[in-house]
Amino acid sequence: MRRDQIKSEIESLETLSKQGESYSDGKDRFGWRNPIRKDTGTLLKSLVITRNPEHVLEIGTAHGLSALYLIEGFHDFSNQDLDTIDFDQGVSDSTQARMDRLGVPVNVHFGDAIEVFPKLNKRYDLVFFDAQKNQYLPQLNSLIDLKLIGAGTVILADNVLDRKSECQPFLDWFHENEINHHIIETECGLLVARL
Ligand SMILES: C[S@@+](CC[C@H](N)C(=O)[O-])C[C@H]1O[C@@H](n2cnc3c(N)ncnc32)[C@H](O)[C@@H]1O
Repeated sequence: MRRDQIKSEIESLETLSKQGESYSDGKDRFGWRNPIRKDTGTLLKSLVITRNPEHVLEIGTAHGLSALYLIEGFHDFSNQDLDTIDFDQGVSDSTQARMDRLGVPVNVHFGDAIEVFPKLNKRYDLVFFDAQKNQYLPQLNSLIDLKLIGAGTVILADNVLDRKSECQPFLDWFHENEINHHIIETECGLLVARL
């Protein structure tokens, strides 16, 4: 039953996703709250099904579309969970309310990702990056330093093709550290790697 509700929530958010929407944290940071495309959503779900992560972390919650695709891949809602972070208080609150209504194991954390990380205390098996593109690398380094991720963690990142220049330092990091990674040619480009 809960899976049917997740599917129908995804469908209604897909409609919202076509509109796009601007965001700001009130401190000069502006961007577009463009949710993931459908092809990326399907891939996220498949990757979760095959990797079967216990703990998933997402950076960039927005209205929860990608979070819903990720948890659609959960085999067992009582033994798998997702933490997700957004620095917009309004969307954090409304997305947490959406997840509570669905009764799914999703915790929305409000704040700048780098400031939220030290408050987390899990070791994540899979991380999905989808906030500011030029922050992917500092966020990755911070997660490693805090030991929230490590050998075996699956790394996924959206927009590595359509916003390649902003993601370049992040992409270079995988080359420099000789970490096997693939860029799947979705509409926006999805990086898939394993530390
Ligand atoms: C592209 S949207 C995320 C879309 C979402 N993953 C989806 O597909 O439904 C980016 C979101 O990241 C948030 N964000 C941007 N930079 C952030 C940061 N440094 N820390 C936390 N949240 C951030 C924005 O408020 C925005 O809601």
